[in-house]
Amino acid sequence: MSSTHDHDLHAWVRTAGRAPSAHNTQPWSVRVLDDRIEVAVVPDRVLAAGDPSFRDLLLSLGAWVECVAVAAAADGRGVTVEPTPHLDRLEDLPVRGPADPAAPVLVLRPHATAYATPFSPRDVDERRTDRGRLDPAPDLRADLPALPPWLVLLQVDDPAMRHLVRLGTAWTASRRAVAAELVRWLRLSPTHPRYARDGMTDRMLRLPPVVARVAAPLTRRPALHDAALTVAGWAGRAVEAVLRSRPLPPAPGPGEPLEGPQHLVLVARTPGVLGATEALDARLGLPPADVVEAGRALQRTWLHAGRAGLAVAPHSEVVDSPHAVAGLRRRLGLRRSQVALAVFSVGRSTAPVPRSPRLADRTG
Ligand SMILES: Cc1cc2nc3c(=O)[nH]c(=O)nc-3n(C[C@H](O)[C@H](O)[C@H](O)COP(=O)(O)O)c2cc1C
Repeated sequence: MSSTHDHDLHAWVRTAGRAPSAHNTQPWSVRVLDDRIEVAVVPDRVLAAGDPSFRDLLLSLGAWVECVAVAAAADGRGVTVEPTPHLDRLEDLPVRGPADPAAPVLVLRPHATAYATPFSPRDVDERRTDRGRLDPAPDLRADLPALPPWLVLLQVDDPAMRHLVRLGTAWTASRRAVAAELVRWLRLSPTHPRYARDGMTDRMLRLPPVVARVAAPLTRRPALHDAALTVAGWAGRAVEAVLRSRPLPPAPGPGEPLEGPQHLVLVARTPGVLGATEALDARLGLPPADVVEAGRALQRTWLHAGRAGLAVAPHSEVVDSPHAVAGLRRRLGLRRSQVALAVFSVGRSTAPVPRSPRLADRTG
């Protein structure tokens, strides 16, 4: 009988280093012990302004856990995932600073039953976000591995999605703290000291070299940075006012084929998953452990897209902006008990997709 060794756990953690996270913050701090992996949250890597409900943090942790499970499966193992009480108290995290190893939010323990997954560590390594133009592709949901029964992937039509993305982008630009936080995670020139470590590079964002050269100083020189945020704020508010005064484009008729790339919304249903008090306390209306579970399902969906030769482009701005999410809820006919957790587009890449940096890449 084979057993799990310390070096296996280290290898699983290395694989999971390629997990996606909002703004590529990689908010996890991992400790490998003899019989378990402990995961704590790094306060400096939490998007305090842009993610006040911790939705993206929890989804990112879930994606990370799924990647560990895929790596364990390749070694014929599984992992049990135990949320700790710290997961329910994320608002007690300090605003800045390193992770507290004494306050892990998740504990993963290996066991001998292989995790059943169609995916491999190679799929984890090759998955990428593509922010370029996506060509239409068949419905991703056709042969998707089953989601937990309280999660559903709904489709939104392309004209509505375009409107909602513009509304969400205008919201991001016009909220100074949110925009400043985004700028803090931009790495627009290879001379940026963290270019190869985290955040979003000019290449990942597919910025033309001229635009990246002009914009890079805006992210690093305080005077320019402040002026750029002020201008973005004015523009964002103006665009938001115009878009809010316009209705969503007419919905396609029943049976009418949807045009463009596919746009999917991961929606959680609250009844049945609510453990009464935690859910009421949680800002999202869902227990944090369930949002981690949803992050695992989201990562499986994205890995499935990768396997099918398709690329994914998340659009969190659509669920961040109260105006955009209200429009989305109306378009999808969501009930009060349903929470839209993630929005992303899926399609065929039209150009090679650059690889994003990771903290783990430096240490090999
Ligand atoms: C929960 C979550 C939300 C995300 N939201 C966005 C988004 O709104 N816009 C975007 O361009 N990318 C978004 N991303 C993608 C990340 O920026 C991306 O995963 C990260 O930069 C690493 O790049 P990679 O996916 O190519 O490895 C999101 C990822 C996660 C896990």
